[in-house]
Amino acid sequence: MRRPFIAGNWKMYKTNSEAEETIRYLKDKLKEIENVDIMIAPPYTALTIAAGITAGSNIYLGAQNVHYENEGAYTGEISPPMLVSAGCRYVIIGHSERRQYFGCTDKDVNLRLKSAVRSGLKTVVCIGEKLEERESGKTFDILSSQLSESLKNLSEEEKNMLIVAYEPVWAIGTGKTATPDIAEEAHKYIRGKIADMYGRDFASGVRILYGGSVKPDNIRDLMAQDNIDGALVGGASLDAESFSKIVNF
Ligand code: PGA
Repeated sequence: MRRPFIAGNWKMYKTNSEAEETIRYLKDKLKEIENVDIMIAPPYTALTIAAGITAGSNIYLGAQNVHYENEGAYTGEISPPMLVSAGCRYVIIGHSERRQYFGCTDKDVNLRLKSAVRSGLKTVVCIGEKLEERESGKTFDILSSQLSESLKNLSEEEKNMLIVAYEPVWAIGTGKTATPDIAEEAHKYIRGKIADMYGRDFASGVRILYGGSVKPDNIRDLMAQDNIDGALVGGASLDAESFSKIVNF
């Protein structure tokens, strides 16, 4: 019922020539895939090249962040219409690295989400607890407050453009994947909270991705869980062969 969604977040990796090589390989390798939505989020600098290569293919492009204004004196920032004009259909919002190093708050996430949707972008909103929050038993409280603020007052259109990614911060880039059971417990909680906010019907259709050290050898067990609808893959998406294996879970 919920179509699987596998996304690659390249973070600050790959020059244009490296990006071109990887995208060409992926386009060829994944061309037969019909039952999974595939998205790649290269750095901004490689978007236009990637858009040229993926045009008309089954690989969609996303950006790793976006500003909430359409234009203005915001040195170093990129706006939703700019992403659309570079060929993006998606944008990742509120990644834990944006939260940790660049001061992104849940309120920012909400502003950016609304602004991105006004330009026609689908949004992947990231949430997740830190290690000390999990260890002190606060995981669900953290997820609850992140969801309440980030997904505040969404219109029908905004809801329809939403994908949620659960990325426990302690599992990102650490090689420590949440076990399928731990991930499923969090995903189930997230779906329940979204049902409280927007009703069961909506919650049962919204896709919730898992992110944090997803690899070819753990994707299948994760995807077998009832509430895990896909993955947001960092490190393992940089290698075209390993990302292809993940898409082919
Ligand atoms: P990772 O990153 O797969 O390297 O843990 C995931 C992410 O940051 O989205």
